[in-house]
Amino acid sequence: MNVLLIGSGGREHALAWKLAQSPGLSTLFAAPGNPGIAAHAECIGLTVEDHAAVLDFCRANSIGLVVVGPEAPLVAGLADDLRAAGIAVFGPSKAAAQLEGSKGFTKALCTRANIPTAGYAHVTSLDEARAALSPFGLPVVIKADGLAAGKGVTIAMTPDEAEAALAALFAEPGGEAVIEEFLSGEEASLFVLTDGTAHVAFGSAQDHKRVGDGDTGPNTGGMGAYSPAPVLTPALEQRAIDEIVRPTIETLAAEGMPYSGVLYAGLMLTNTGPKLIEYNCRFGDPECQVLMARYEGDLLALLHAVAEGRLAQAPAPAFADLTALTVVMAANGYPGTPERGGAIAGLDRAEAAGATVFQAGTRDHDGKLVAAGGRVLAVTATGATVTAAQAAAYRGVDAIDFPGGFCRRDIGWREVEREGA
Ligand code: AMP
Ligand code: GLY
Repeated sequence: MNVLLIGSGGREHALAWKLAQSPGLSTLFAAPGNPGIAAHAECIGLTVEDHAAVLDFCRANSIGLVVVGPEAPLVAGLADDLRAAGIAVFGPSKAAAQLEGSKGFTKALCTRANIPTAGYAHVTSLDEARAALSPFGLPVVIKADGLAAGKGVTIAMTPDEAEAALAALFAEPGGEAVIEEFLSGEEASLFVLTDGTAHVAFGSAQDHKRVGDGDTGPNTGGMGAYSPAPVLTPALEQRAIDEIVRPTIETLAAEGMPYSGVLYAGLMLTNTGPKLIEYNCRFGDPECQVLMARYEGDLLALLHAVAEGRLAQAPAPAFADLTALTVVMAANGYPGTPERGGAIAGLDRAEAAGATVFQAGTRDHDGKLVAAGGRVLAVTATGATVTAAQAAAYRGVDAIDFPGGFCRRDIGWREVEREGA
């Protein structure tokens, strides 16, 4: 089968790497792809926002499955247009993708389906926001509504910080915000595949969102991750599925917006059980890299079964009983303005040292690999413990020569500390 993969990041490189191992794959195309993805796929210039052009490409190239990596095309309704044209697609409809695209939508769904989440108020003006604030106490969480790539969240410790965050969100007309109760606990991510009816757990992970060691500094898209997340014990995972994920899938189906694809639940493990922080309608980046490093099955067959509503008949996903850990190497300046063009060498040495290097913001410049984005590489390795996987990933990192980049040196620290205790 010919497959079209949409996206250009480390997540998509990991998907391409795994799809390329599927015996059913004929040609993999990637739009736009990147130099790492090009090792497994034919990278094409296609304007993904132009849905008619995507449909034409699929018809002309006998595409049997489209795999959408990032959220933006899903929120824009690409999956709807593909389905309407009879082309199988892995990824939810525009209506179901509101789980990621609109925090207000998700919060209202949690209320309707009685799903544990932080108490909240959805506000559309600064006056309304100020009036809603007092019952929440401090700290209080203030979020922009709409797609914000995890960057539109303020945890305000003082009334002044809350006022400043709200003033910034309502500085432009048309602002919308969600004010939330602060939840304390440890965060974990749970991935579930569903075709709208059947669902199956697809692994857990923890990521590191802050740019600096010790989880300090500004938020990023993710500086590293590991899978599985031991804090999400089998009992807690079952609770999260029973109390959060299944009611979500059932409610969306009952309301005529069945969810098909991967549902990524960001959970807070509070002392009264798992609570939903947020949903994403796609794999995480870099969480996908560690899931793919552990997944042992036929990815193409599985994603195709999800796309065609045959998940109940598909074999249960099997994962290696190992930890996978990935370290993101970012360009200097990230998450602000990253330096572009920094030379990258030694990926072969990292691979020889046992790591798998997924490329994100890279570009080919006269036959040499250079940095072309914020997050540049995701250096991934497995081990019997988090400590072993971490050591293996950093052996890979240390084999790479990327003077214009940096990484955190402590990915996995919580588990490494617990394993050492
Ligand atoms: P979000 O964009 O909703 O994923 O939020 C980004 C990050 O902010 C989360 O990963 C949490 O670390 C933190 N966060 C969001 N909501 C809450 C909450 N209600 N309580 C505590 N921390 C939160
Ligand atoms: N790493 C967080 C995300 O993909 O949203």
